[in-house]
Amino acid sequence: MSLADLEKQALAELESTSDEAGLRAWHNKYFGKQGEVILATKKVGTLPPEERRAYGQEANRVKEVLTAAHDTAEARIKERALEQSLSSEGIDVTLPGRPLTRGGLHVASRILREIAAIFADLGFQIYRSREVEDDLTNFELLNMPPYHPARDMWDTFHTTVPGVLLRTHTSPGQIHVMREHCPEPIRVILPGMCYRYETITMRSEIMFHQVEGLAVGEHVSMADLKGTIVAFARRMFGEERQVRIRSSYFPFTEPSIEVDMDCIVCGGKGCGLCKRTGWLEIMGAGMVHPVVLKNGGYDPAKFSGFAFGMGPQRITMLKYAIDDIRQFWANDLRFLRQF
Ligand code: DAH
Repeated sequence: MSLADLEKQALAELESTSDEAGLRAWHNKYFGKQGEVILATKKVGTLPPEERRAYGQEANRVKEVLTAAHDTAEARIKERALEQSLSSEGIDVTLPGRPLTRGGLHVASRILREIAAIFADLGFQIYRSREVEDDLTNFELLNMPPYHPARDMWDTFHTTVPGVLLRTHTSPGQIHVMREHCPEPIRVILPGMCYRYETITMRSEIMFHQVEGLAVGEHVSMADLKGTIVAFARRMFGEERQVRIRSSYFPFTEPSIEVDMDCIVCGGKGCGLCKRTGWLEIMGAGMVHPVVLKNGGYDPAKFSGFAFGMGPQRITMLKYAIDDIRQFWANDLRFLRQF
């Protein structure tokens, strides 16, 4: 076959090739080890010397033409294959998607946010305070000198640095806010983790959250404290909630109170949750002790303040009827997924 015929034939076959297998076969037929183009090129050695030059040049030209034609055909075939797969195997947008496992906030975080949102509406800002405290701020500046018996209620974890401990309550944060903002008026909540050296039971943990509240100003009164607590209890637990206060004792408040609300299960009639009393304790509170005000930099003759402290875990347990506080940090997804 002449080179010209070879070229014509190869081009024609390429033209009618429509898939990748056909293209491979074509390439093998013309450019394989025994391919016709390769053999035709080799033929140059068998020709009389005067024909070799022209033949060689023509053979090279054919080779180049066919190589280029092959590449064009390859691109065309690939393009077609892609188009076909797009139209035949197109995505069915009506199929349901694969479900993603979504994470969520821990119930403790949710409650902290809920509490923060309620107090934000009442004009309280959030103040974050340290979890590692010194004895001075956790106890002494809160009117609990080293000999004070009230310290027994707040045993904690001590570090190897003398006087440095994990805070037992959020109350030392009061000192930090006051010293930072004195003599400005203050209205803040201080949420955060607290630690106590205790036996872990259904009702007590060695780590738990507290939300402290503090308002300081020139005319802050017990009535303000009561109004704030009632507003909070009703937003958190329902508009119909009744709140009562009992007198109590904390070294850092004078007078001190404890706050109960009517039982959310029985409404006050007496049931298992409220241990037949009709009331649930929600927080400790009081008017900031003059010594504490002074330690914060405020003149107790001119300024007064109220403070409260609650345990959001306890509040959550009331709200969702959780009977074991250990669930909060047990990492049991069956528990956590309920919220
Ligand atoms: N710090 C107290 C505790 O850990 C709670 C508390 C009671 C905080 C009365 C207060 C308060 O600010 O006025 O038990």
